[in-house]
Amino acid sequence: MPVVRGKNIEPLFTAEQIAERNHEMAKDIASGPTKDLLVIAVLKGSFIFAADLLRALHDTGLAPEVEFITLSSYGAGTVSQGVRIVKDIDSDVKDRDVLLIDDILESGRTLRFAKELLYERGARHVSLAVLLDKSVKRQEELEADYVGFECPDYFVVGYGMDVAYAFRELPFVGVVTGDAEA
Ligand code: IMP
Ligand code: MG
Repeated sequence: MPVVRGKNIEPLFTAEQIAERNHEMAKDIASGPTKDLLVIAVLKGSFIFAADLLRALHDTGLAPEVEFITLSSYGAGTVSQGVRIVKDIDSDVKDRDVLLIDDILESGRTLRFAKELLYERGARHVSLAVLLDKSVKRQEELEADYVGFECPDYFVVGYGMDVAYAFRELPFVGVVTGDAEA
């Protein structure tokens, strides 16, 4: 089992599995709404997935514009949970097809907020691509249009995702299972 920073990390989805799935997803995305396509990566967790998915989209012949939005949840664990914009996109979304890319769809709050925001700004169509769907954790009525993998209810790291700012650099998605033996 890989050991990183003294922790055992059990791979859940390997780099090879993710690469294969990214190409399948890109083909599905290319056959959906792509008028004046704007791809928006939701930072920070999606940065590696977005980079790989974009290159897979290029292989299908698409040439989207790429933007980034940083969103943050507040009030986690309390009744009033919300999402705020930490850093916004610069582009105008009016009458454009938009693809939002995120790492994990969990409660659905983050992507529901982002999707509504873009429709309010006049987007023609907004679709959602996520690497992982933790559907058992859903709180909002929201489904992604493109899903890499259904994710079991573990806290996962790697491939852009962190725990306490660590493990984003891993090329695979895994679960921290404990301390490695010295
Ligand atoms: P939600 O759908 O609004 O609940 O937010 C999902 C966000 O929470 C994702 O974009 C991740 O940033 C974060 N997140 C949820 N589960 C995990 C996990 O297992 N590992 C790392 N980040 C997670
Ligand atoms: Mg996130």
